[in-house]
Amino acid sequence: MQVIPASGTLRILEIAKKMEREGKKVYHFEVGQPDFPTPENIVNAAIQALKDGKTRYTSARGIPELLDAIQELYARRNIYIEGRENVIVTPGAKMALFQGFLATIDVGDDVLLLAPSWPTYKVMIRNAGAKPVDVDTRTGYVLDEEKLKNKIGNEVSAIVINSPNNPTGGVLTKDHMKLIYDLATDHNFLVFSDEIYEELVYDGFSQTSMLQVDTNLERTVVISGFSKSYSMTGWRLGYAISSPETINNMVRIQQNTTSCATSFVQYAGVEAIMGDQGPIRRMQESFQRRRDLLQQIFCDIDGIHCMNPMGAFYVFPDMSHFDLTSSTLSELLLKRTGVTSIPGKVFGEAYDHHLRFSYSVSEQDIQEGMQAMKEFLQDL
Ligand SMILES: Cc1ncc(COP(=O)(O)O)c(C=O)c1O
Repeated sequence: MQVIPASGTLRILEIAKKMEREGKKVYHFEVGQPDFPTPENIVNAAIQALKDGKTRYTSARGIPELLDAIQELYARRNIYIEGRENVIVTPGAKMALFQGFLATIDVGDDVLLLAPSWPTYKVMIRNAGAKPVDVDTRTGYVLDEEKLKNKIGNEVSAIVINSPNNPTGGVLTKDHMKLIYDLATDHNFLVFSDEIYEELVYDGFSQTSMLQVDTNLERTVVISGFSKSYSMTGWRLGYAISSPETINNMVRIQQNTTSCATSFVQYAGVEAIMGDQGPIRRMQESFQRRRDLLQQIFCDIDGIHCMNPMGAFYVFPDMSHFDLTSSTLSELLLKRTGVTSIPGKVFGEAYDHHLRFSYSVSEQDIQEGMQAMKEFLQDL
């Protein structure tokens, strides 16, 4: 339990709950999940699978229909995965990461994290007996080549990258991904590429997958899932793509832990990929509108730099102008305006002057909440 800290956001959420109990309006900019219902065709596919009796254990790797659908999903982007042995379906991307780390990392290894990064990586890496090492990026998750090179030592066995990125909304360029891959090849370490936000990119940007860089899957483990792209967080469905050797090791772990992803949820996953993509496009368009709106309001606030997050549904402004730690500022902001945020420190020691806001909230809440925040910050 020493490597699993209490949640860094507990205090903020407790204050928010108390305010709501007192009848005060809270603007939930802290959430990390889409606010849309799961599209109806996906829900119906799960119901049908239940009616058809798809309620038993499946193969630990996943049902063949879903393994094939995942390959089809990538083929649409001209990324060709060789066969079903390259894929494992898991209960959420989280489980794919956990199994992936356990399958590849040794006790005592160093694992580089392109920071700022989702805090769960650190907990999982420590659970595998390894040591997480932050490699800070430039504003907006832009790779700092020198910083990365300086952190590469003999103990490094992997790097974790996450583009589009939680918390910044930044994306890595193909050149930077190639550079990371080349360094991994030269120094013989693995690349974990968490691409869970791959469908949520804006302004017509096309996200590079590590699968386009390491086409032979020699040293890459790609992690993704259905939570964000299809608004299926509670269903728990994710997957990993890697070499047959790594995937087979993950299958062995899955056989002895969760057994498989939930049977009827896997059928819903097939529908998510193969069925009508209209609802998915509409969610993406809605996120684009919200991002544009939020960005416009942020650019209008004195003391915050304008940002142009290209993906996911987060912004991570630098608030150092206000000279407060991220948890103090986050708490003050909530108490005075009802706007919740996540303190930047949660995402890495170097980010204690940032706050993360998610725009997985209605346009009306963005307008009202950000107006309240603007007035508060002006007074501050
Ligand atoms: C970067 C990142 N990876 C993975 C996940 C978890 O995905 P899943 O719901 O599929 O476990 C999240 C959820 O917040 C995330 O932000």
